[in-house]
Amino acid sequence: MKYSLTSASPEMTRRLGEALGALLKGGDCVLLDGELGAGKTTFGGGVGLGLEIKEPLTSPTYLLCCEYIGRTRLLHLDAYFEERMDGLLCEGLVERFDRETVILVEWARKMQEWLPQDRLEIMFTGWADDRQIVFTASGARSQALLTAFSVNPSFSGAFSS
Ligand SMILES: Nc1ncnc2c1ncn2[C@@H]1O[C@H](COP(=O)(O)OP(=O)(O)O)[C@@H](O)[C@H]1O
Ligand SMILES: [Mg+2]
Repeated sequence: MKYSLTSASPEMTRRLGEALGALLKGGDCVLLDGELGAGKTTFGGGVGLGLEIKEPLTSPTYLLCCEYIGRTRLLHLDAYFEERMDGLLCEGLVERFDRETVILVEWARKMQEWLPQDRLEIMFTGWADDRQIVFTASGARSQALLTAFSVNPSFSGAFSS
């Protein structure tokens, strides 16, 4: 199940993230994908707002994993440094992917096998004022999440197969 939107501004990307964040619950897995500067961090900041996290999200690129407590726990991961991430996962990080925790992952393709199958993948493409955001849901929970997200009256996207 796919749903596509265009975002005209960083503010809109942030608001989209916030709308998704407001729907998330423990156990959910959201992947952010796209080139440098595509809008992943901007969207992630919105997710933090939607989860009622009081501090701004910072980049997990060097830390690998940042933890926040809002309405629920959030682990924000970045697998860019793949070998370091593998080490951390083997040392027990994966045990923390539980029903009380939302996981938000950048560079997820480098840690695919560690993540739940039921996940909402969000691909950011395009530049300047032509920016596409494509959501792909791959399981019952992520499809329900995407359906709930899509009914928001303040933005309109399109479903495709
Ligand atoms: N529609 C848009 N959505 C998101 N970012 C945008 C948009 N238009 C312009 N920008 C700019 O693009 C950059 C996106 O950066 P960032 O979110 O850090 O990307 P990433 O985390 O994918 O590397 C920011 O400087 C932002 O102001
Ligand atoms: Mg970023």
